[in-house]
Amino acid sequence: MDLNRPALPLQNKAARNKAALAASAIAVALLLSACGGGAAPQGAEQAAAADPASGANASGAVNICGVKDASGIYKGTAEAFTKANGKVTAKYTEIGATTDEARTQIVQRLEGKSTECDIFLSDVIWTSEFASQGWLLDQTELVEANKDRLIPSTVETTKYQDKYWASPFFTNAGLIYYQKDKVAKPETWQQLYTEAAKAQGNGFVYQGKQYEGLTVNFLEMLYSAGGEVLDDQGNVKIDSKETRDVLDFMSKGLKDGSADRAVLTYNEDPARLAYESGKFGYQRNWPHVYRLLNATPLADSFGVAPLPAWEGGKASGVLGGWNLAISAHSTNQAGAVAFIDFATTPDWQKHVAMDYSQAPVNEAAYSDPAVLEKMPFATELLASVKGAKPRPISPVYPQISQAIYKNVYAVLSGTDSTEDAVKKMADEITTAKASF
Ligand code: GLC
Repeated sequence: MDLNRPALPLQNKAARNKAALAASAIAVALLLSACGGGAAPQGAEQAAAADPASGANASGAVNICGVKDASGIYKGTAEAFTKANGKVTAKYTEIGATTDEARTQIVQRLEGKSTECDIFLSDVIWTSEFASQGWLLDQTELVEANKDRLIPSTVETTKYQDKYWASPFFTNAGLIYYQKDKVAKPETWQQLYTEAAKAQGNGFVYQGKQYEGLTVNFLEMLYSAGGEVLDDQGNVKIDSKETRDVLDFMSKGLKDGSADRAVLTYNEDPARLAYESGKFGYQRNWPHVYRLLNATPLADSFGVAPLPAWEGGKASGVLGGWNLAISAHSTNQAGAVAFIDFATTPDWQKHVAMDYSQAPVNEAAYSDPAVLEKMPFATELLASVKGAKPRPISPVYPQISQAIYKNVYAVLSGTDSTEDAVKKMADEITTAKASF
């Protein structure tokens, strides 16, 4: 089954029109009968809302489902919540090694109206898709209550059609880890690649497998080179000189030894483990790697830096992060609200940084002395997060991303030319957009 296809018939224009007709027919019927009988149509408009007051009287069990817990933050938060709450017990269930695999598993459960998971860890790129299908509880009231203390870009990632569909849990921005004894802190991507090719042991590892992570790695360079996927009006802009320059640059880097060819099989964890072998100079990864690297023999020799700029351009990142979404089919919505209340408190947000070296969504955490002690790069991390650009926001984002990573991969692995890949990327993104 291809779960990169649009998830439900609602993502197809004809079906959407039909659904709109059905929705208005139901509205008329409700008006006429003045009583609320009949099945509610699917979609964001009709979604039920989470009750912010319900968390206080919650009890029972809450199952939180999501991607592999590489940093330990999900299990750690579930345990800390269970201990602190006393009435609700939370557990974390891993359902996928990468974000793409987790999405496939989540979509299957949501389409099947499964009650297994009360909360989904939702990648910031999924909000529009999940909300447009009517799969989530509306969390507008919960988010409104916390909004003042949150980094604004994190709140934006939970929005679809003027409502909030999840609570931001942690945010993310790419970083460069480098071996201070071998290579220089990079100011530009060009400098990083040159330095990486200079000697054996200086090489660069990143996430180059065919999946969402490759889209991110590519867009980090594309954005800093001044390129874009869509413009502000949503027009496809990927067929550009910048896209060609970045593809040529990345593919040359694999040929001249700047980057190890094994990156074509790496997602985040394999890249981290390769770097931990001590055989590389640079690694692109997320903030959680900081704590894990500190527990290895490289603890005293690595440095951490913001992503470099494109030569002649500027530094730019891609906004990552994970939100807590409540399943519309949860049988313990109150318990889910209680868990979210806990995970988003200013106090737990400090633990997000101190215990897991993840990036809090609560802005004040970054200047807290206890956080700065455990995460000395917190100030730079906040700047990276605030400077990071979102990926295209669309209910068909998975198809847009697939058009990117598939074609980037084809160039990197040598099965397609830059020119052909750019054309295909643009065509496939246009087709994906037209499907909604
Ligand atoms: C990280 C980011 C997420 C991104 C993923 C790509 O988990 O937080 O937003 O999609 O990496 O692999």
